[in-house]
Amino acid sequence: MTRPVSLALMAQSIASHLRLLTDQGILGFDCSPETLEILARGLAHNSLSTHGPLAQAQTEASSCTECALHKNREVGVFAQGDSKAEVMFVGLAPGREEARVGLPFQGEVGELLDNIIKAMGLNRESVYMCNLVKCPVADGQAPDPTCIRACSRFFKKQVEEVRPRIICALGQTVAESILKQELPFSRARGKFQPYLGMRVMPTHHPVELLVSPEKKRAVWQDMQAIMRVLDLQGSS
Ligand code: URA
Repeated sequence: MTRPVSLALMAQSIASHLRLLTDQGILGFDCSPETLEILARGLAHNSLSTHGPLAQAQTEASSCTECALHKNREVGVFAQGDSKAEVMFVGLAPGREEARVGLPFQGEVGELLDNIIKAMGLNRESVYMCNLVKCPVADGQAPDPTCIRACSRFFKKQVEEVRPRIICALGQTVAESILKQELPFSRARGKFQPYLGMRVMPTHHPVELLVSPEKKRAVWQDMQAIMRVLDLQGSS
């Protein structure tokens, strides 16, 4: 019988093999400091298992060719965090930086989201983070609705398996895609919506906060509403 192996253990083992090869002067592998760092820092923080329906969905997503975005994919970006998390943060699609690391929400946007999550008293390992679309889009581009639809079976599987109490939908497109309705976002933002026995909280996407920092106050109100439901105290 095969035993589940955590990605963290696999990543550590790959990183140490790559280091050994580098030390021995063996060429032909990507033993660059960047690759070693990604393995050590990125995947080691990923507590997702390599077994079960989520792992299977991730494998399927990594070979999916249903929409044109697969041509951008070297590494798909499936998720990060705890597959038993009470709260799931959902973005639209990974960009170039996420594709380089293989994990959602990197760079400035990721740092901002990390800070929000940290202020709630949580972190990347204790929430579940994913995007509606698993293949990278060009920076600053939104995925076509057909790509969102093509990827929806993977997102559906993530929701079914994680079954968080709260899904935090980052931005209007994400909220509308999940709830399958057009929303007057200024009114829908900050209000829980029922969804398959769970609750969806539509809020601004962190990208919007980089452009319009004055929206941070509203996002923090939304996070406080989530914290009340989950009985979180936040970080002081
Ligand atoms: N990075 C992601 O992973 N998702 C987004 O929606 C934006 C940036």
